Amino acid sequence: MEKIAFFDTKPYDRIYFDKLNKNFEIEYFESRLRPESARLAEGCRAVCAFVNDDISAKTVQTLANLGVEVIAMRCAGYNNVALKEAQGKMKVVRVPAYSPYAVAEHAMGMILMLNRKLHKAYIRTRDFNFSLNGLIGFDLHGKTAGVIGTGKIGRAFIDICRGFGMEVIANDPFPAENSGINYVSREEIFQRSDIISLHCPLTEDTKYIINAQALSLMKPETLIVNTSRGKLIDSEALLTALNEKRIGGAALDVYEEETDLFFEDNSDRIVTDEILSLLVSRPNVLITSHQAFLTREALQSIAEITLQNLQDYFAGRELKYEIKYKSGRG
Ligand code: NAI
Repeated sequence: MEKIAFFDTKPYDRIYFDKLNKNFEIEYFESRLRPESARLAEGCRAVCAFVNDDISAKTVQTLANLGVEVIAMRCAGYNNVALKEAQGKMKVVRVPAYSPYAVAEHAMGMILMLNRKLHKAYIRTRDFNFSLNGLIGFDLHGKTAGVIGTGKIGRAFIDICRGFGMEVIANDPFPAENSGINYVSREEIFQRSDIISLHCPLTEDTKYIINAQALSLMKPETLIVNTSRGKLIDSEALLTALNEKRIGGAALDVYEEETDLFFEDNSDRIVTDEILSLLVSRPNVLITSHQAFLTREALQSIAEITLQNLQDYFAGRELKYEIKYKSGRG
């Protein structure tokens, strides 16, 4: 049986892999995959990694030296993989889609919570404080949702917005055909939207897509939700806009410096990330810990596709979900 080194695993990751795996010996490591931990993969021809693993050139080289032939990402995003370095040394596969609904529904859940201040109401009523002061929100019906990135998750989110009776405008360099989506410029999204939801990947073009300039175009009530990647938002500029009451609020499932914090219990540590600390303290900021994917359906699908990717590799079959390095960009 081939042995696979699974990095950055939590108890909830193991449930579906243990249930579905029949062909491999899985060795679970809690440690992230990074240059220092890569040698744990000794004796394995495959490793399985996740969103915040550091699969930079040094990690890839160490894995290659150990004889690792394939990296199976159990996620969609792969901005943390040095594809150029991996080229010719090992294959990289991923799970391109597992449950777009999981992420889209979480994004709408965050919007509802932030807009209707449910996070505050929940705490108040637990203390028998039944006051409504300060809890005014706005109807989503009739408002404008601006969606950046209309792939699988973006389109699922658009369907939800339409169900709420919202007008949807979107931006994507590759518009979805026959979707009836009203595509507009980025600027128009920033200027017109009451809620803005980010569903594009992190690339050189999308890094800090929400920056000081973008924020300056928004309405003072606009709510931003980011369930994609932290670096889509310049957090410092976001904090400034919030402090100056130039936007209505932010719901963040991802954060640009999340790598050493998210997915972990840091409650007994002094967290020295000042921007995150200030964001957490704002009443109109809602943060979840890269949780949007976390449904039973998504976890099952992730395990099924990852195991299939690995079986295909070891059987010498074509790799349906291989990621290849292409012309200077992943
Ligand atoms: P997808 O590949 O189906 O869609 C991405 C869309 O973004 C495509 O239509 C693409 O054309 C568009 N896009 C690319 N560059 C753009 C740009 N410069 N401006 C606007 N749009 C652009 O991907 P999917 O499955 O919808 O996932 C979207 C993102 O969600 C992923 O890249 C990942 O970062 C994030 N994600 C977050 C999860 C979480 O738990 N928070 C879980 C899964 C994915």
